[in-house]
Amino acid sequence: MKKDFLWWRDGIIYQIYPRSFADSNDDGIGDLPGIISKLDYLQALGVDAIWLSPIYPSPDVDFGYDVADYCEIDPKFGTMQDFEALVKGAKKRNIHIILDLVLNHTSDQHPWFLEAKKSQNNPYHDWYLWQDPKPNGEPPNNWESWFGGPAWELDPDLGQYYYHMFHKEQPDLNWRNPDVRAAMLDVFHFWLKKGVDGFRLDVFNAYFKDPEFKDNPSQFGIRAFDRQKHIYDVSQPEMFPLLEEIRTMMDKRKDTFVVGETFLADPQQTAQYCGDGKLNAAFNFDFAQNRWHPKRFLQSALRWYQSLGDSAWPNNFLSNHDMRRAASRYCLGEDDRRAKVAAAMLLTFKGTPFMYYGEEIGLRDIPIRNISEVKDRVGKTYWPLFTGRDGCRAPMHWNDQIHAGFSSAEPWLPVHANYPKRNVDQQITDPESLLIFCKHIIQVRKEEPVLQRGDFIPLVKDPRHFLAFLRTYQDDQVLVVLNFSSRELIYDIPEGTWVSLFGEDEPNHGLISLAPYDVRLFKKVE
Ligand code: GLC
Ligand code: CA
Repeated sequence: MKKDFLWWRDGIIYQIYPRSFADSNDDGIGDLPGIISKLDYLQALGVDAIWLSPIYPSPDVDFGYDVADYCEIDPKFGTMQDFEALVKGAKKRNIHIILDLVLNHTSDQHPWFLEAKKSQNNPYHDWYLWQDPKPNGEPPNNWESWFGGPAWELDPDLGQYYYHMFHKEQPDLNWRNPDVRAAMLDVFHFWLKKGVDGFRLDVFNAYFKDPEFKDNPSQFGIRAFDRQKHIYDVSQPEMFPLLEEIRTMMDKRKDTFVVGETFLADPQQTAQYCGDGKLNAAFNFDFAQNRWHPKRFLQSALRWYQSLGDSAWPNNFLSNHDMRRAASRYCLGEDDRRAKVAAAMLLTFKGTPFMYYGEEIGLRDIPIRNISEVKDRVGKTYWPLFTGRDGCRAPMHWNDQIHAGFSSAEPWLPVHANYPKRNVDQQITDPESLLIFCKHIIQVRKEEPVLQRGDFIPLVKDPRHFLAFLRTYQDDQVLVVLNFSSRELIYDIPEGTWVSLFGEDEPNHGLISLAPYDVRLFKKVE
């Protein structure tokens, strides 16, 4: 490890959806011992941290994003001892652990909510957002839930409505209640003491809503949710002092990291939450949602860097558990050439790369053909316009055995039909595979601090077919050329003497020819 290597800035963060990574006890659901059994694989791949989607007890209305106990492990994932073993095994391999904290809302089965709805006098009542109906019995305001339908649910026994931005089984917490705030900060402490190095904050900018619950103004949109300007139900100013408190607490420990998922925010708004006294990083959805065009990626990256300025280090991702996988969006059929270019871009652009499990083998979304197969309730609500998020959450492909080596029992979601050909075992022995490609480029990145923390200088301002850019750090310069097109191209590389770090060795000066979807990295030697 190079000195002054800072894991969350210079390393690679790998997101695991625990239900779908590896199943150790053959119940069809991935678990912590399963992850432990793959730590050697992750180390060999070269990742520096894993972010685990929620592993806490949950009734799974939103697959873990509805938490019923913040300081326990769901038995379907294992035990607290398993978690401790995971932390230990990961640390031994220099892999850091990032947990997903879902603190905007709890499950409706959380003991706090069960208490809260007992009576208006219950001490936990004010932990949630209750409002009396309007005189005509209607909900207190026009707020809509992101997952569809009104955001207010009437509790007939109490005669009051409670607020939920997501499913009705995910009541939002009242973050203005000091007891809620204290309980939540305790959650951070609990996991930090267990050896966790960082957190991903789920929809953190939704914690606070307008204290007077004013109606959102209307705007044009398709869904009822989109026909409102969300100025009162998210992004309230109280978030800033809270972030400062969180950061002060985190900074008491060395090299901790907090990355936030901003909700309904553009890159500029997102950037405002990052920097000293705020988050270390936040996700840039704008970059991930580009169509296949080099200019699109370049422009959104530059916008992101500009928004962040020098105040925070950027990060980039192309896939996660809520969206179609990049390989499904960009690749044509089973051809992985675009996946290689995408991976190379992710791993050489300025910003910490976040990879989503299976991205390194080009896992594709599973097709969702019938509403009866849908597990994600959002897919049921919006069928067939939107089939939900099951597609990107299917089991990892380890080998060509039954259920792709994920489990010997029927998995909770089916494995993709392409698994006999697309799996880790197969790709690890194929020098042309996406997996070997990713490992190689990760290795190059590890050896070159310039690729980790260097500046980013685009060389082609209006790219139509390929990207060419420099990364520069101290005396080092690396030139990256990525051909986004299926055509052979000629590129005139800048003056100087360059040695190849990746791709064809020669020639490396003057005019070079780029094969379709070529990926080339050069280092300047004088
Ligand atoms: C975040 C999560 C998503 C979840 C939602 C509600 O957007 O990424 O999976 O459904 O929050 O917790
Ligand atoms: Ca299991």
